[in-house]
Formats: sequence, structure tokens, C-alpha cells
Amino acid sequence: MKKICAANWKLNLSPEEARRYFVEWSELKPSRLVCDLVFFTPAYDLPAAAEFAPAEGFHFGPQNIYFEMSGAFTGEISAQAVHALGARWALIGHSERRTLFGETDAMIAKKVKAAMAADLVPILCVGETLAERESGQTKKVVSRQLRAGLEMIVAEFALARHFAIAYEPVWAIGTGKVATPEQAGEIHAEIRVELGHLVGQKRAHEIPILYGGSVKPENARELAAQPDIDGFLVGGASLKPKDFFAIANALR
Ligand code: 13P
Repeated sequence: MKKICAANWKLNLSPEEARRYFVEWSELKPSRLVCDLVFFTPAYDLPAAAEFAPAEGFHFGPQNIYFEMSGAFTGEISAQAVHALGARWALIGHSERRTLFGETDAMIAKKVKAAMAADLVPILCVGETLAERESGQTKKVVSRQLRAGLEMIVAEFALARHFAIAYEPVWAIGTGKVATPEQAGEIHAEIRVELGHLVGQKRAHEIPILYGGSVKPENARELAAQPDIDGFLVGGASLKPKDFFAIANALR
């Protein structure tokens, strides 16, 4: 399986800054990288990403979509419209969407389905909070989020389509507290087992499971060595082209 290094810029970088970023990025000679790259930019930066997208292995997409393609839904983002811009991936169910914007498992399931209907590859984000980890709920929470997010597509798309999972422990996001390679590896292995139940063993091994939460150039190599870590979803460190390049370079 080809590994994936995904950048989640969150609410950072204006269109002008995004253009400067991609110029700096291309000067690093990313064709040397062996993983696929996906940039999840704010919606207004997608055209800047599109200008650079013809490069091999370079993809981009929105950090959120709505589950309807058009209509009276002020402020929302259409999966079909971003696809028309050249986006091929979509981030769905990020923990900041769940906690700050009230997204429920049911809404997230509809978004995963909408992404697939618009030919975007969804990355479904799952992960436990600190309280859930400390009360021994991690596996239960992650399993619930996975099942809720995937059951609809299992039923409707017979899983012929590509998708990925990102495991992001909420306590490790933006805190500098990275999960140890063993902690991350354990939950990734668990996700693989859960996927096996949902889609069958063979298919489960073709679904990339990305780790996210304080990934930095300094810890990327050790995390990447875990057998079930198939890539990264990087927040803060993706805002500097050199750091993001170093992280992507750890995925071999
Ligand atoms: P940080 O890398 O800043 O911890 O963010 C992780 C994240 O939320 C990526 O989606």
C-alpha cells in the first residue's frame, strides 16, 4: 500500500500565503518523496492548491463538506463543487468538527456517503478524548465512530471505492503530547481488526490508517515504523513546507 502524508492546515494561510507555500514546497523537490500527499486547505485556498496539483502524487481537498450538494445551506461546502475545482479527497469528522461544531456520528456518516457520491476519497477521522482514554473507553469509542461512519457506505457502495481512516487521539492534537509509537500502534491494529469485521480481512489491509496528533519531524520516523501506521495527518507542522517535507520523507 502506498503511504499517505496529509496536511491539515485548519484555519491558517491566506490564498496569498498558500501560493507562497506551494512555491516553497515545489523548491524542495517533492518528486523525491515516495508517499502520496494530500493538502486539506481552507476552502478559499483550494484554487491555489489546484494550480500545483498536476504534480505526480499531489492531491488536495476540503477539511469539511456538507452532505447535500446544493440548496439553502448558508455557509456550507459542496462536495460536487470542490470536485469540480480538482479536489479528489475530503477530510470528514475531524475532532474539531465534532467538538466545536457539534457534528454527530450520524451527520458524519452522511458526509462520508456524500463524499463518495461526489467521487472524493473520504478520510474518516476517529479518536478518543483524554477522559475517554483515562476511563478505559478508547477502543469502544473508536469502534463506535468507525462503525457509525462506515456502515452506510458498506451498505450502499459495497466498498468498491477507496477511503482512509485517520486515528487522532484528541489529547494529542495541538498539545505537543504525541501518542507513543506503541500507543498509536495498538489502536491502529485494533482499527484494522474492526475494519476486518466491517469489510473483510483482505479489504481491511488495503485501507490506509493514518496517525495524527503532534506529528513532527523529530517523531515521524519512529511512528512510521509501526506496522499498522500507513501515513500521517499533520496539523501544526504542516504549515512549514520544510517540516512537512521532513515528515513525508519519513514515510518509506
Ligand atoms: P497537530 O499536528 O497540530 O497536533 O494537529 C493534528 C490534527 O488535528 C490533524 O488533523
